[in-house]
Amino acid sequence: MHIIHTAVELRQRLKNQSNIAFVPTMGNLHAGHIHLVEIAKQHSSCVVVSIFVNPLQFAANEDLASYPRTLAADCEKLKAAGATLVFAPSVAEMYPDFDGVNLNQTMTISPPPMADILCGASRPGHFSGVATIVMKLFNMVMPQLAIFGQKDFQQLLIIRQLVQQFNMPIKVIGVATVRESNGLAMSSRNGYLSAQQRQQASLLHEVLQNTVAKIQSQPHNLPLNFQQLEQATTDSLTSHGWAVDYVAIKSALTLAPVSDTDTDLVILAAAKLGNTRLIDNIEFLLNKYTTN
Ligand code: PAF
Repeated sequence: MHIIHTAVELRQRLKNQSNIAFVPTMGNLHAGHIHLVEIAKQHSSCVVVSIFVNPLQFAANEDLASYPRTLAADCEKLKAAGATLVFAPSVAEMYPDFDGVNLNQTMTISPPPMADILCGASRPGHFSGVATIVMKLFNMVMPQLAIFGQKDFQQLLIIRQLVQQFNMPIKVIGVATVRESNGLAMSSRNGYLSAQQRQQASLLHEVLQNTVAKIQSQPHNLPLNFQQLEQATTDSLTSHGWAVDYVAIKSALTLAPVSDTDTDLVILAAAKLGNTRLIDNIEFLLNKYTTN
């Protein structure tokens, strides 16, 4: 497995590859990331993984400085998983106008309106930062396939739009969230949780599951009050000490409010346990013909 730090060397190494599967990450890899590599390997014998903590997607008050950087351990895991190449650039490599303090990245991607709601509402500029770095990485790696986890559901939809609207010949594959045995979605930020919080954190998935079960068991002729369901889910988290950012039930295809014709839905949530902000979601089908 090659470990490469510059775009020039990356292009050199990949110039004869015609089928590259790409897994972009910010490192601090866990079983969820390794699963993405395994999926990538099913599609290509050339699996490129990037490790880059992207300053442009962090707001000033966020955890950029403390975000875990574990390159050596990550590379060990990727080697064992069978990745072909790790691309671990510096900030200056990804942001050529970086002056040591400011990124000076004046050309950025302006994402679609779906980037302004949910995580985008509480993290202004976040998805512009994500879309910009993903565009840069795509330009460098030039993959045929890119693999992303569905845990970042809103991010995945925005990247699908990025690829579509900029006519990029890249197939984007979304992969189901890998969970710990108690249901907690795997995340690099789980490392911020104490052992006790890690147990408590399983509640996030549990309340989302309960709400989905409630929706799916509703007789088809009764209208669903999504606002009430969102509020009840929020209350349930709040009563257990969570500070809820949002709970939202949306169209899984567009993140628009659920319309009468939507059947593919998603419930998404972001909430803080202590100082740690966690997100999770469940995509589900609304069976309009349920009769129980
Ligand atoms: O999901 C992530 O880890 C990041 O947002 C990504 C896609 C690697 C861009 O920095």
